[in-house]
Amino acid sequence: MTGFTEIDGVLHADNVPLTQIAAEYGTPTYVYSASEIKKQYDALAGAMQKALPADRQPLLCYACKANSNVAILSYLRSLGCSLEIVSEGELKRGLKAGFKAEQIVSTGVGKQRSEIIAALEAGIHQFNVESLPELEHIDQIAGEIGKKATIVFRLNPNVSGGGHHKISTGRRRDKFGISEDSIYGAYQIAAEMENVEPVGLSVHIGSQVFTVESFKTAFSKLPDIVNNIRAQGNTVTRLDIGGGFPIVYKDEKLLDLDRYAEWVRDIILPLDTEIIMEPGRYLVGNAGALLSEVLYVKETHDQDFLVLDAAMNDLIRPTLYEAYHGIEAVENRDRPEHNYDVVGPICETGDTFTQGRDLPEMKQGELAVIKSAGAYGYCMASNYNTRGRPAEIFVHEGKSYVIRARETLDEIIDQDTVPDFLSA
Ligand code: LLP
Repeated sequence: MTGFTEIDGVLHADNVPLTQIAAEYGTPTYVYSASEIKKQYDALAGAMQKALPADRQPLLCYACKANSNVAILSYLRSLGCSLEIVSEGELKRGLKAGFKAEQIVSTGVGKQRSEIIAALEAGIHQFNVESLPELEHIDQIAGEIGKKATIVFRLNPNVSGGGHHKISTGRRRDKFGISEDSIYGAYQIAAEMENVEPVGLSVHIGSQVFTVESFKTAFSKLPDIVNNIRAQGNTVTRLDIGGGFPIVYKDEKLLDLDRYAEWVRDIILPLDTEIIMEPGRYLVGNAGALLSEVLYVKETHDQDFLVLDAAMNDLIRPTLYEAYHGIEAVENRDRPEHNYDVVGPICETGDTFTQGRDLPEMKQGELAVIKSAGAYGYCMASNYNTRGRPAEIFVHEGKSYVIRARETLDEIIDQDTVPDFLSA
């Protein structure tokens, strides 16, 4: 059995009972299913293989902001992924996971000097540039260290996409990209610079884009723009069409990958460029779950609460984006339901995973699992309330591996330093 499945009444990850993982490693703990990651990779790569000729396959650059554990990166590399990064830290993680620099694309609206230098020294595939000041900065730094930076410009297509306003990136008013009216001038400036080489465009309209026609709308802006840039006498040899593929958290309609691949075939392929994609959530989102213990069942006149040992510092999506995550009992899964608010121990009302949800009636000490937490879960965790971040466990072919140990309190507290005059 693959992914998260029930076997003999107990939820398993790739054939390992979650009860066993909790007993061995404690809770709260992130658990990842290797087979689910592979299933998603195969679906995306497969749709592209079906729609596009063998010599025009896209570079699938995993957007590792979704989950940057080096073991997850190594696994995705072994499957055939390249990498999209947004920081020097992600570059280091990627190189440690064995990605070649030529497989790495650097994006983000505020690249800093040290990360530009690190990426240039490593020799990454390209920088996706978001503004003229950033272009000038890259040109200047590349000149200083004797490198030439390959760049594409991120187009802001003024297309709304994204499952929540905070993760929609393609609207004119958003901080991302360069609008069509400014992109020609920017391209010309870059073409005349000594230390950068503009080779194309990128577009990424948002994350968890379930109004899937938005992809098509954004793609449809590219042919005219590419042709205009070429008419200027400049070359366009790469198009990076971003990420944003949605997953099912509750009952969302999934993107039909074959349809998406047809849009790529019909709109992007004829432009005769290298094609780059940046999927994040799609590859890892449903492959992860946050395993947790019910600390208390608190009954009040107004509402009953399941108080978990997991909290908003472990998984912030529900409170930050009002995001829905499935919550399930790990054992005895077909018992009668009861209405709960599911909350964590942190001292604010926002530390709530869900309100008023019918769930199997649960008891103190039982295990609950918060699903679809493989993307933007651990990587957004914090030490709020001086809580150590959870352990991360990777399950592959019936065996579990610690890929990140639970953070100890000493590890957190020892990083504070007290000036001498205040020492006890
Ligand atoms: N490329 C760029 C330039 C991006 O900014 C992102 C995500 C991706 C690719 C990958 O998007 P994906 O395929 O994962 O949708 N923390 C939020 C999501 C933030 C997404 C940021 N950028 C959440 O928990 O929903």
